[in-house]
Amino acid sequence: MTVAGNWKMFPGPDPQALRVALGDLPHVVAPPYTRLRDCVEAGLTTYAQNVHWADEGAFTGEISPPLLLSLGVEGAIVGHSERRQYFGETDDGVAKRTAGALQAGLNVIACVGETEAEREAGETQEVLRRQLAVLDAHPRLVIAYEPVWAIGTGRTATPEIAQDAHAFIKSLLDAPVLYGGSVKAENAEELLSQRDVDGALVGGASLDIESFVTICRIGSSR
Ligand code: PGA
Repeated sequence: MTVAGNWKMFPGPDPQALRVALGDLPHVVAPPYTRLRDCVEAGLTTYAQNVHWADEGAFTGEISPPLLLSLGVEGAIVGHSERRQYFGETDDGVAKRTAGALQAGLNVIACVGETEAEREAGETQEVLRRQLAVLDAHPRLVIAYEPVWAIGTGRTATPEIAQDAHAFIKSLLDAPVLYGGSVKAENAEELLSQRDVDGALVGGASLDIESFVTICRIGSSR
């Protein structure tokens, strides 16, 4: 079961201290780009928070799969709702980033999820169907279901909402599905015990060593 920590644009914990605290527990950390090397050198399983599809080129501000692989980075998050919401990323771009990264040899966590307005309008399945339609199953592709209304808000999806969405996603695409959105040490057990919840993508709570290690421990016991 994968438990991945998305540090977003925060410096995050000391990689060495985190490595020691994690011991042998399976984990993924996705620090900001400038901390990737420190995380790799500390022996952490390290992913980037985004990745471009091309090997190289005139794409200011972007990072390519080979550049990440050369650092020892093993994967990337793609299509996080903050990328879609604030930086104009589209389903099409997410598809290209995912395909390019997989082709180059990275693992990918591709994020999907509806906004509050979409859920209230009864459009959750339609949104998930649209976001997933551009992705093809691949042995190194994992989906993260992150309802936008639950990210950074302290409002977690109920285990039933998560289970329903995960089962729906799996009916469309054969891939493990992580849940993301205000996962904490206190609610991880309940969420991770759902049949189709295959792990967690953790934002805020991954910045604290103790809570992240607790969530990883819960994940490894499932
Ligand atoms: P959160 O973020 O755990 O702080 O809600 C999750 C995410 O955005 O991946």
